Amino acid sequence: MLNIVLFGPPGAGKGTQSEKLIEKYNLTHLSTGDLFRKHLGEGTDLGKLARKYMDEGKLVPDEVVIGMVETKIKDTLDSNGFIFDGFPRTVAQAEALDKVLGDLGLKISGMIALDVPEDVLKSRIHERGKTSGRVDDQDIAKIETRIKVYLDETLPVAGFYDKQGKLTKIHGVGTIDEIFSNISKVIDQYS
Ligand code: AP5
Repeated sequence: MLNIVLFGPPGAGKGTQSEKLIEKYNLTHLSTGDLFRKHLGEGTDLGKLARKYMDEGKLVPDEVVIGMVETKIKDTLDSNGFIFDGFPRTVAQAEALDKVLGDLGLKISGMIALDVPEDVLKSRIHERGKTSGRVDDQDIAKIETRIKVYLDETLPVAGFYDKQGKLTKIHGVGTIDEIFSNISKVIDQYS
């Protein structure tokens, strides 16, 4: 099984690249942001809880995220593997993911981190906000909070995988196809 963590700040292109990667490698896309937005749309209790954090660009508490991901992994175990997009976002989430996978006899193949300058991130998200309908895309203060939360709470996750020798950084500016091709070269070395 290929289990890939696609990592990077808000607007780095994780969702865009995930869509192409799941097709090429026949993987399951596990985006915690998408799962929360689905719950939100369905008006579930989980969605209502997550909304308070998402609207402000803050992280949903670890125990809520981990429980949701564990359920999704166990429900989709017949897949060829997972692209984790937007997860893990804290070291506690990364440790929990290792445990969940380890108990199932699985492991993370590698983390691919998209490197994109902050001004590009802001302009991509601001542009997407015109059509995405995402509350957290719509004003610059919220976008800045999300980037700050990424730098303070999420960036250490890259160190977690680096220590395991599993981190590869990719330049995340260029055409979507160029970046996809560079990511694919890394993944082809996993298998
Ligand atoms: P989430 O949904 O994960 O959002 P995010 O990490 O902020 O990432 P984005 O979706 O904004 O960006 P992306 O990297 O996917 O970029 P995209 O491909 O769309 O999380 C939202 C919220 O949910 C969090 O703030 C938090 O509250 C909560 N949450 C989620 N997971 C959590 C977790 N694990 N723990 C706790 N809380 C959690 O691209 C962006 C734009 O750029 C698009 O318009 C795209 O078309 C464009 N673009 C992409 N690539 C290129 C390119 N190469 N050139 C030009 N434009 C490009």
